[in-house]
Amino acid sequence: MSPSTSRGRDPATAAGAVAPVLTIDGPSGSGKGTVSRMVAHALGWHYLDSGALYRAVGLAAAWEQIDLSDAEAVAACASRTVIRFDGDGEGEPKVWVNGKDATHQLRMETAGAAASAIAAHPPVRGALTDLQRSFRADPGLVADGRDMGTVIFPDAPFKVFLTASAEERAHRRHKQLKEKGVSVNFDSLLHEISARDERDASRAVAPLKPAPNALFLDSTGRSIGEVVQHVLALVPESMRRP
Ligand code: C5P
Repeated sequence: MSPSTSRGRDPATAAGAVAPVLTIDGPSGSGKGTVSRMVAHALGWHYLDSGALYRAVGLAAAWEQIDLSDAEAVAACASRTVIRFDGDGEGEPKVWVNGKDATHQLRMETAGAAASAIAAHPPVRGALTDLQRSFRADPGLVADGRDMGTVIFPDAPFKVFLTASAEERAHRRHKQLKEKGVSVNFDSLLHEISARDERDASRAVAPLKPAPNALFLDSTGRSIGEVVQHVLALVPESMRRP
């Protein structure tokens, strides 16, 4: 997100329908969150972390004690949940869910699993479509998720599919959580991540898969800086921050 951007659920913010979009899709732990934020910052573009929206809805539904398998009830919850991002464009933005700072809770693997469960319901995805598209604004948007290039912004001029081996992704997630003071067992994390990927890739609606015209990047053994440079090279100089 740009330094001044803070989004609520107002679709009226859908200005600049022709603003360029760079989509970065991929499985959990591929590094797409960090890469997307760094690329958005370097370009001076807005940033959409679509996974945070699914996590936020999963959390709001849990707060309301809604059965996560009840597609219609969760979709109704998605429609009334107020999600706000607050950031300076550099670090991870804070995420407010219905007025509560949920930043820390949203990063937990339990929030990821809840997000993955509710994300399989078509009405829930439908309830979040306009909100996601409303982030498209000048001078451009970097959108990170699973279906950014395939469903939400199929006309995006720049598309990347970022992946890494399951082991490496679990190592990265483990390190990230450790840095946040959360201690988790590596083997169970690897198992949870693989199960989540399997569910995301095999679901009927908007499954995790590369858009046909996406640049396929494997970040295994590569530094974040290298991947960022590779992605940035997709965008012509004339469209970058002066
Ligand atoms: O990217 P992140 O790990 O935060 O996403 C959490 C979950 O939200 C994913 O496992 C996936 O099931 C769901 N998701 C999705 N579509 C997106 C972004 C996330 O289905 N565009």
